[in-house]
Amino acid sequence: MNSFRLLLQTMHPRIWHCRLFLKIRANLWPFSSRADALFTPVNRHSLAGQTAHLPLNNTPSRSFWHTVILPLFCLALFVSCVAEDPDSAESVPAPETTLKEAYRDAFLIGTALNSRQISGQDASGQALAIREFNAVTAENVMKWEVIHPEPGVYNFEAADAMVDLAEKNGMFIVGHTLVWHSQTPDWVFHDEEGNRLTREALLERMKEHIDTVVGRYRGRVHGWDVVNEALLDDGALRETLWYEIIGEDYLARAFEFAHEADPGAELYYNDYSLELPEKREGAIRLVQSLQEQGAPITGLGTQGHFSLDFPSLENLEATITGFAGLGVDVMVTELEIDLLPPAFDYLGADVEMSAELRDELNPYADGLPTEVQDQLTERYKEIFGLFLKHQDKISRVTFWGVTDGDSWKNNWPVPGRTNYPLLFDREGNPKPAYHALIELAER
Ligand code: G3I
Repeated sequence: MNSFRLLLQTMHPRIWHCRLFLKIRANLWPFSSRADALFTPVNRHSLAGQTAHLPLNNTPSRSFWHTVILPLFCLALFVSCVAEDPDSAESVPAPETTLKEAYRDAFLIGTALNSRQISGQDASGQALAIREFNAVTAENVMKWEVIHPEPGVYNFEAADAMVDLAEKNGMFIVGHTLVWHSQTPDWVFHDEEGNRLTREALLERMKEHIDTVVGRYRGRVHGWDVVNEALLDDGALRETLWYEIIGEDYLARAFEFAHEADPGAELYYNDYSLELPEKREGAIRLVQSLQEQGAPITGLGTQGHFSLDFPSLENLEATITGFAGLGVDVMVTELEIDLLPPAFDYLGADVEMSAELRDELNPYADGLPTEVQDQLTERYKEIFGLFLKHQDKISRVTFWGVTDGDSWKNNWPVPGRTNYPLLFDREGNPKPAYHALIELAER
């Protein structure tokens, strides 16, 4: 019996653990959607468990599995489970499932990767990302200023490495971001004499950038944040240089160019504070207008830069249901929960905002009090409770970073603070919120 158990354990480290049998059998059954995800090229639907199952009679080995291997396996496993074992289940801690496994049938669970994780300089962060998440977004390495810093100069090294890494690990890949007012060099909008470009010249520059970047990863990057943060909090279009030079149709053109460069890629509009009613309405009008113009938009991402009290669950729910009503995929794209006092009366994520470090703005520099840790756990639970309730509408939930130490929230809007907004602490250990979210998914 021990040698059989050893054999099973070698096949899969968790197989011999009786308490996990019911969960694990799906991983072993070769015709399940989980197995499909392992053996077929990655796509959002198969990863989320939404792909049609392989028809059983398509597989020549079906009867062999049904009549020989599966009954034998079940019998052996049953005997193994009921046999007395000196190492009883109590003495062996049950290995927990991972986030991506726990939410596999609900939606993709993603993270943003920074350049240190991509290169492997942060090897443990990279390993943690691979273990826990099944989708990745480039936190910075695909932004215009990084990937296309000067006219005619492209810097693909880090982006290539991210795509390779994600592909090797069967992850859904999100490119971030093609058209944004921020992190876009000044030269993009000006000619060699420093004069503003004409509408036609800027459209040509936008198209060249999108063709080059999206075209390079055609068929490999599964979805793109095509336009980022084009709206103000009141729902009006932000008057960026894109808007001023090209006009309102710059968004539709960006989606068209991206679709031409990779007709198979999902194409998203992505923004923050979309739970504010006015901004939500602005986003809905924007998507409707894009649809009327025939722009190939397929999804709408609400970033999810949240805090303990923003947004209200009512407003979050109204955003999810309102967006789903547009007939596009809905996703949460940059989730974290800020635990620090606000530096000013502002809820958004405008990277241009900043404030000076003061002691009272950095109350947890020496550690997070248990009661605040508990508040974080409760907040994640209520938010994911809502996500699970609307799992039929949500295709992906992506955290903006892997560990607390990686979060941009340590440096924005006040540089040098110690924040705790994610599910893993600075050492990469899962926090109570992590365990609570696993438990919630398994209920
Ligand atoms: O890589 C350089 C490094 O070489 C240099 O020594 C260092 C000195 O400041 O800067 C490093 O670049 C920083 C980069 O993050 C990598 O850490 C940039 O200054 C800093 O501006 C940049 O911040 C990023 C910010 O977007 C602006 O691009 C954050 O990491 C990133 O999390 C944040 O992400 C945005 C989303 O793209 C859009 N939605 C809002 C979200 C939060 O602002």
